[in-house]
Amino acid sequence: MPTPPLNIALFGSKFMGKAHSNAWLQAGHFFDLPRRPALHTIAARDADYLERFAKQWGWAGWTTDWRTAISDPVVDLVDIGTPNHLHREQALAALEAGLAVACEKPLAGTIDDAREMRDAARRTGVPTFVWFNYRRAPALALAHQLVAEGRLGRIYHVRAAYLQGWGGPDTPLGWRFQKSRAGSGALGDLMAHTIDLARFVTGDEIAEVTGAIEERFIKQRTRPDDPTKKGRSSVDDAVLFLARFRGGAVGSFESTRLATGIKNSNRIEIHGEQGAVRFNFERMNELEFFDGNEPPRTQGWRTIQAMHEAHPYAANWWPDGHWLGYEHTFANQAADIVVALSGADPIVPIPDFEDAFTTQRVMEAAVQSARHRTSVKLSEVT
Ligand SMILES: NC(=O)c1ccc[n+]([C@@H]2O[C@H](COP(=O)([O-])OP(=O)(O)OC[C@H]3O[C@@H](n4cnc5c(N)ncnc54)[C@H](O)[C@@H]3O)[C@@H](O)[C@H]2O)c1
Repeated sequence: MPTPPLNIALFGSKFMGKAHSNAWLQAGHFFDLPRRPALHTIAARDADYLERFAKQWGWAGWTTDWRTAISDPVVDLVDIGTPNHLHREQALAALEAGLAVACEKPLAGTIDDAREMRDAARRTGVPTFVWFNYRRAPALALAHQLVAEGRLGRIYHVRAAYLQGWGGPDTPLGWRFQKSRAGSGALGDLMAHTIDLARFVTGDEIAEVTGAIEERFIKQRTRPDDPTKKGRSSVDDAVLFLARFRGGAVGSFESTRLATGIKNSNRIEIHGEQGAVRFNFERMNELEFFDGNEPPRTQGWRTIQAMHEAHPYAANWWPDGHWLGYEHTFANQAADIVVALSGADPIVPIPDFEDAFTTQRVMEAAVQSARHRTSVKLSEVT
């Protein structure tokens, strides 16, 4: 008997709606998967747009009521690409129905929501995944492998920043600037990725957050529903903190949506006793590597173009040297999710709700450190 397809219901049809629709389609085309991902139902709010979206992307059905997708007995996996305040309700409903869940980051807008999601995943035992997609840029997956192989030795420094520049005073008051819907600003939007990457590449955990600063530079923004009026922006525009890792490394973290002139610079630099790596998403196919064990005469930074079939995920795409883009990180994750659901190991680990809750605890430690101007041990954030 042929293996049945993996029927997906996706919630959200805009930025991540497109990224995920493309990912499920491309995963089925470019990876040899144990089950074929099938675009079963797309759910969002605007019926006219949804009908067109479903046709354009090949979704078999669409609905403005996401609950109907959860009660459909043929759906296998719920994929959540909606604003952060909706993650909890949608994930809990899916988990209670026994459906696997792939949820966008941050796990939730608040730590309380995130904890409830983590607890529900534990209680139901249903597989969960969180779209920390940058892990699956081949160059970053390679960095993770090099550290795991001991090529950097003991880690001393982690220097990480996620910088974007689109959030100036002319940017309207969308959901990303409303605490009730986003939970936080640059913290959940960008820093969540940075924390996940630092944990992923080092294989270590943050033990303490200190010296955090949150800043809301722009307090009023134009209301999208009535451009003649302004409303209160209630989230951080920028967040910075220092950290200590369990293994002894120290780290600095910075995220902002006000880095004028910078589009999408997700950077990490790690120095170890025997070597170092650095990555910037603006040149996402390259990993810079310094091997301290090479003879001094030829020692130096090398730029590895991580597109050879020897590099993680690259063999599934184009011949060596043909660049991958943002969308491939999602397709790689979609493929890994299908593989993990079949019981096999993904190419690199996928964060589940338990793992993403650890990232959320670091975010919460940063909030508390900024609010109380103090150091916060992760063991105090539960
Ligand atoms: N992994 C990444 O690189 C990445 C990038 C961008 C956004 N995200 C995350 O993805 C999520 C969505 O962000 P986005 O940029 O796609 O937002 P968006 O504003 O572009 O799209 C939100 C979608 O949610 C739908 N929606 C809103 N309320 C709904 C409801 N009550 N029921 C059903 N659908 C509803 C909207 O109709 C829209 O289709 C957020 O959690 C965000 O943090 C992740």
